[in-house]
Amino acid sequence: MCVLTAGQDQPSRKAYSETTRMKPLRDRPQARWLFSQFALPRGLLGSLAGAIMARGNADMARLTLDMLQPEPAERVLEIGFGPGVAIELLAEHVTAGLVAGVDPSQVMLNQAVRRNRQAIVTGRIDLRLGSSDHIPWADGTFDRACSINNVMLWNLRTDVREVRRVLRQAGRLVIAVHKWTLGGESGGLLRLGATFPSLEGVVQALEGAAFRDLDVRRLPTRSGPAVFVVAQAS
Ligand SMILES: C[S@@+](CC[C@H](N)C(=O)[O-])C[C@H]1O[C@@H](n2cnc3c(N)ncnc32)[C@H](O)[C@@H]1O
Repeated sequence: MCVLTAGQDQPSRKAYSETTRMKPLRDRPQARWLFSQFALPRGLLGSLAGAIMARGNADMARLTLDMLQPEPAERVLEIGFGPGVAIELLAEHVTAGLVAGVDPSQVMLNQAVRRNRQAIVTGRIDLRLGSSDHIPWADGTFDRACSINNVMLWNLRTDVREVRRVLRQAGRLVIAVHKWTLGGESGGLLRLGATFPSLEGVVQALEGAAFRDLDVRRLPTRSGPAVFVVAQAS
């Protein structure tokens, strides 16, 4: 901190820059706390983060669905559904099957339930508290699965296997993520004390968990460039 009292000289440009130089984002506790509201939304600020994501990530959800291509009678899972926008879009396509989702945030569960109440009541949507390391459905339950902006929060190698477990053979997985959250591509801006995976790390984890025919696509979205990985369970 730099404090000036009456009569004191202005600090030189050099001294000023030494005392007030911005710390890297990841070293600033306030920034970590703010961004943790997007990683695991809690309380009032978490609700606000949900509203921001609902608006900012909707086109990413649409692109993910274009690649997932669910059939009307299929069973489809979203991991980390956040405010529930992709769940809502999925339910427009999956009219005779099941749309399921898992997310560890109670605040996000509440928002997603509010957004999808009608289809939950009729049993077409099933949203549960949980996370990528424990997906509360039986082996081979789902025909398709997707994750938007949360693969960087997984224990990659083990959680990808958990996703594979709940997918049937030849089931399709789409992982979508903002490019700037991938380590290796940008230095992993929002490291939040964790090591964000690189795209290569995601690809290796998928191949190690018996996913095949990986197709990596890079597309612009409203909230920045995104990377999509489409894979088939073998
Ligand atoms: C950045 S938000 C993305 C939300 C939404 N998918 C979107 O793109 O707008 C990350 C979401 O993943 C959830 N999440 C965090 N860790 C997770 C994990 N290990 N497994 C599943 N979801 C997780 C958070 O609670 C939050 O809802």
